[in-house]
Amino acid sequence: MATKVCVTGGSGYIGSWLVRKLLVKGYTVHATLRNLEDRSKVDLLNSLPNADTNLVLFQADIYNAHEFDDAIQGCEFVFHVATPMQHDPKSSQYKDRVEATVAGVRIIADCCIKSQTVKRLIYTATVLASSPLNEDGSGYKSCMDESCWTPSDHLPLTYANDYVLEYTKAKTLAEKELLIYNEMEDAKLEVVTLLSGLVAGETIQSHLPLSVQVILSPFTGNMFGYYQGLKFMEEVLGSVPLVDIDDVCEAHIFCMENPSMKGRYLCAAADPTVREIKACLEENHPEFKIDEKFREEAEIRGIKCDSSKLKEMGFEVPISLIPVSYVGSCYFLQNLPRDPVRVGKDLNLTEKTRLGGCKRKKRVVCGAGLIFPVDPWAPNIDSQSIASQLFAFSLFPYIGFLYYITKSKSAPKLTLFGFYFLLAFVGATIPAGIYAKVNYGTSLSNVDWLHGGAESLLTLTNLFIVLGLRQALRNENAPKKSSSDPVSEIKEEKKPSV
Ligand SMILES: NC(=O)c1ccc[n+]([C@@H]2O[C@H](COP(=O)([O-])OP(=O)(O)OC[C@H]3O[C@@H](n4cnc5c(N)ncnc54)[C@H](OP(=O)(O)O)[C@@H]3O)[C@@H](O)[C@H]2O)c1
Repeated sequence: MATKVCVTGGSGYIGSWLVRKLLVKGYTVHATLRNLEDRSKVDLLNSLPNADTNLVLFQADIYNAHEFDDAIQGCEFVFHVATPMQHDPKSSQYKDRVEATVAGVRIIADCCIKSQTVKRLIYTATVLASSPLNEDGSGYKSCMDESCWTPSDHLPLTYANDYVLEYTKAKTLAEKELLIYNEMEDAKLEVVTLLSGLVAGETIQSHLPLSVQVILSPFTGNMFGYYQGLKFMEEVLGSVPLVDIDDVCEAHIFCMENPSMKGRYLCAAADPTVREIKACLEENHPEFKIDEKFREEAEIRGIKCDSSKLKEMGFEVPISLIPVSYVGSCYFLQNLPRDPVRVGKDLNLTEKTRLGGCKRKKRVVCGAGLIFPVDPWAPNIDSQSIASQLFAFSLFPYIGFLYYITKSKSAPKLTLFGFYFLLAFVGATIPAGIYAKVNYGTSLSNVDWLHGGAESLLTLTNLFIVLGLRQALRNENAPKKSSSDPVSEIKEEKKPSV
C-alpha cells in the first residue's frame, strides 16, 4: 500500500509543487487548504497526476489547528508547509500572527504524536530564522549555518517593516518550538526543520508567487514594497540565499525518505547579494531594464549560506550563482512585459509546466484594480478581492443617494454633512490603503496608526449624522419651530395636502 503523507497548505506555491511531486512518486497525499469551496484551488489540486486515486483534500485553518487532526490521522509523514501570511483579525484567541503560528505548530506536532502513525514532521522553515548577525549587531559571522538564530528583537531596521518583522519572528519562534520535540525524553516524533532560501522557478499556480515577485522586484519596480523585502533579507542574512522550487521540494522528500533524520537543515543553492542578483538578471535579460531608482547599489561582501549539513546526509543542492531556472528558463521572466509599469496590472502568462508540457494561456491579475494601480481595499497585499471590488461599486448608489437627499432638502444640515463626510472618509482610505501596501507591504487594516486614523473619521461621520438627526427631532418637538429647521419645513410643506 502507498505510504500516506500529509501536506498542510497544499495549494500554496511550495505546497502545490510538493503535492504534485509526491503524487507523481506514487504517495497517497492528504493535502489541506483553508477553503474547500475555493474551486480554483481545489480544481488545480484535483487536476494533478494521480490525484483521482491518491489525493484527499481536507479543510483546516491554523487559527483552529485541531482541524488538522483528520488530515494527519493515518499518515506516516507530515509536511507542515502552511503558515499564516496575514493575521486573522477575527481571532480572539491569538493577538497576532506570531502567537497563531507558534501555537499552530505545537498543536500540529501534538496531533502527530497523538495519531501514533506519524514518524516524522518536516517543517518548511526559512533562512530568515538563521541570521548570522553578531549578537551585538556589530556585523556578520563568517558564514550562515544551522548554529545561527535570528534574534527575536532588535533586527537592523533600515528595510524592515511590521510585516517582515512579524513573519521572521513567527517563523523563528515556531521553528524553535518544534525542535523542542526532538529533545523530549522518549521522543516519539522526529522533527526536521528545512530552512529554505528564497524560492523561485516554475509553478502550477496561475499567479506570480510572492517570493518570485520579490526576486523580480528590481525589474518590476517597487510593487507592494517587494524590493524592500529583498533588501531586508540581505540586511538580516548578509546575502540572499536562493533555491529553486523543484530542488527545495526534492529536499523535503529527501528528508522524508531518509530512514532516520531530525534537526535543522539549511537548503540554499546560491547566496548572492542584491547587487549580484541585479547584475545576473540584467546580464541574462538585457531586454528588461532595472528600475532607475534601484540602479545604484553599494558593493558588500556576501555572507555564505552553508548547506553542507544537508549535503553530508546525502542530498546535493545544485550549486550555481543563481539557479538556472531562476533567471534563465524561468517562464515568468520569459513572459515579463517589456514595460515594467504594466507588471502587476494584467499579465498574460504562458504556462508550460515541466510535466504537462502543454501551453495554456492564463490571465493573471495581481493587485491592480480597474482604477488604481494598487487595490487599496483588498485584504491581502497581492490580492484583488471580490469584496473590495463590490465595495468600490457600492460608491455609485451611495453617490446617487447623496444626490437625491441633497436635492430633496429634507435632511438636517449636520446629518447631510455627516453623509458627505463618509464619502470623504472612503476617499481617504484610498491613498491610505495604497500607502500601506506600497510602503509597509501590507493591507491598511494591519497598519494600526493608519487604520486607527481612518476609523476615527468614520466615528466622526456617525456622530455628525446622529447629532444632526437629534437636533432635528428636538426642533420639531420645541414649542416654537425655527423656519430654517428642515424637519419643520417638511411638516409645513405637507400641511396643504392634509
Ligand atoms: N516561498 C519562499 O521563498 C519561502 C522560503 C522559505 C520558507 N517558506 C515557507 O514555505 C511555506 C509556504 O510558502 P509559499 O511561498 O508556498 O507561500 P504561499 O504560496 O502563500 O502559501 C501559503 C500557504 O499557507 C496556507 N495558509 C495561510 N494561512 C493559513 C492559515 N491560517 N491556516 C492554514 N493554512 C494557511 C495557504 O493556504 P490556503 O491555500 O488555504 O490559503 C497556502 O497554502 C511557508 O511556511 C513559508 O514560510 C517559503
